[in-house]
Amino acid sequence: MVGLGPVGLTTAVAFAAQRNQVFAFDIESSRRKEILGGKPPFHEKGLEAALRKVLREKRLSVVHTMSEALRSSSIVFLCVGTPSKADGRMDEGPLGEAVKSLAAAWQDAKRRLVVVKSTVIPGTTDTVVRPILEGAKLPFRLAVNPEFLQEGRALEGAMAPDRIVLGIDGPETGRVLRALYRSTKCPVLVTDLRTAEAIKYATNAFLATKVAFANELANLCQAFGISYDDVHHGIGLDPRVNPRFLVPGVGFGGSCFPKDVRALVAAGRHRGAEPRLLEAVLAQNEVQYMRSIALLEEELGNLQGKRIALLGLAFKGDTDDVRETRAIPIARTLLSKGAVVVGYDPLAGPAFSRLVPEVKVVGSVTEALEGANGAVLQADWRAFARLTAKDFLAAMATPVVVDGRRILNPKKMRGVRFRRIG
Ligand code: UDX
Repeated sequence: MVGLGPVGLTTAVAFAAQRNQVFAFDIESSRRKEILGGKPPFHEKGLEAALRKVLREKRLSVVHTMSEALRSSSIVFLCVGTPSKADGRMDEGPLGEAVKSLAAAWQDAKRRLVVVKSTVIPGTTDTVVRPILEGAKLPFRLAVNPEFLQEGRALEGAMAPDRIVLGIDGPETGRVLRALYRSTKCPVLVTDLRTAEAIKYATNAFLATKVAFANELANLCQAFGISYDDVHHGIGLDPRVNPRFLVPGVGFGGSCFPKDVRALVAAGRHRGAEPRLLEAVLAQNEVQYMRSIALLEEELGNLQGKRIALLGLAFKGDTDDVRETRAIPIARTLLSKGAVVVGYDPLAGPAFSRLVPEVKVVGSVTEALEGANGAVLQADWRAFARLTAKDFLAAMATPVVVDGRRILNPKKMRGVRFRRIG
C-alpha cells in the first residue's frame, strides 16, 4: 500500500483484517512512525483499535522504503493524493513521483499488479502510470479500483463496501482482484481502466449536485415560506429521487467533492466540453454559506462587535478534517463584518486554529456559547443534535441560533430565536 492517508491506511487495515499480508509505505517518515506506534494520523471511527490489532497480529507491516514494501508483494495499491493545481485541474505530480519511485525500487523480474486507488481524471492511469512502468521495462499489469469511502465511516465502508468497481487491463488482472475481494459480498462491476476512473468522478459529481440541489431547493422553500422538511420527505418518497444526500445546509466541503468537481470541470473544459451544470454546482456551493450569515443578520442586524459562537469547525461531523470546511468562509465573513468569533469542535479545533488564527477556539460548547449574541451550527456532530433551548438560554447573551445543518430539533427551541437553512 503506497500512501497512508485516510484512504490508503483504512484500506490497508481492512485488507490486513481480511487475512492478507499488507506492507504499508508512506514517504512521510513522521506519518510512518505514528502508524507504527498504533496511532492513525487522523481521526477515523474504529481505525485505531483495528490498526493495533493487525499490527499485533503482524498482518500489517509499516515499512520504511518502497523496496521493502515491494519485496514480498504481488499487488501494489497506489493511494497517493491527487491535489488541485491553481487552475483547478488535477495535479498528477505526486502520483507520477510515486510511480517513479516504485519503478526504481522494482529490481526483480516478478510480475506485479499495480492498482490505482487514487482518484484520477479518466485516462491518467494510461498516460501517467503506464509509460513510467513501460519505460522501466517492468513486468506489470494495471488496474483501477476507486474507493467510495466516506470519512467517519471509512473503515466499515472498506470492510463491507456496497459495490466494487474494477477497471482492468485484461482477464488475468480481473482474476487476481476478484480473488483479493473474494470474501466481500457486494456487486462487482468489471470495466476498462478509464471507465473505472470516470465512475469515481461521476459518483462524486452526482452527490455534490444532489447537495447543491437541496441547498437551492431549501433557499427556494424559504423564499416561499414553506418548510423544507415536508418537501424533502415528499420528493424523497419517489424512489427515483430518494431522500439521501438531500440535507441542505451551509454547503459541501471536505477533501473530495469540491476538489473532484473542480478537477472534472477543468479537465472537461480543457477537452472542449462545457460542463455548465457542474459549474453551477460549484458556484451554488461557493455562496451557500452566506445564507447562515444572512439569517444571523436578520435576527441581530449589524454584526459589528457581536460575539458569535461557531459550533463545528470540521467539514462535517465525526471527523477532524478541516479541508475546505465551510467554517473557513463563515468565520472570515463574520470577522470581516467586525464580529468576535469563538469556535468549538470536538476534534478539529487545533487544525482550524492554524487556518483561521483570528478565531478563538475553546474547549466546549458551553464556553463557545458563553456571552454570545448568536450561534451558527456548522458541522453535524451528533452531540450537537442533542442541544436544546436550555443549553442556549443558560449561556448566551442573546439566544439567536442558526442551524446550518438542520440537525437541531425545532420543537426543543422554545424561547430561542431559532433559524434554519430552508
Ligand atoms: C465523499 C463521498 O461521499 C465519498 O464516497 C468519496 O469517496 C469521498 O467524498 P466525504 O468527503 O467523507 O465523502 O463526505 P460526505 O459525507 O460525502 O459529505 C460531503 C460534504 O457534503 C460534507 O461537507 C457534508 O456536510 C455535505 N453534505 C452531505 C450535505 O451538506 N448534505 C447532505 O445531504 C450530504
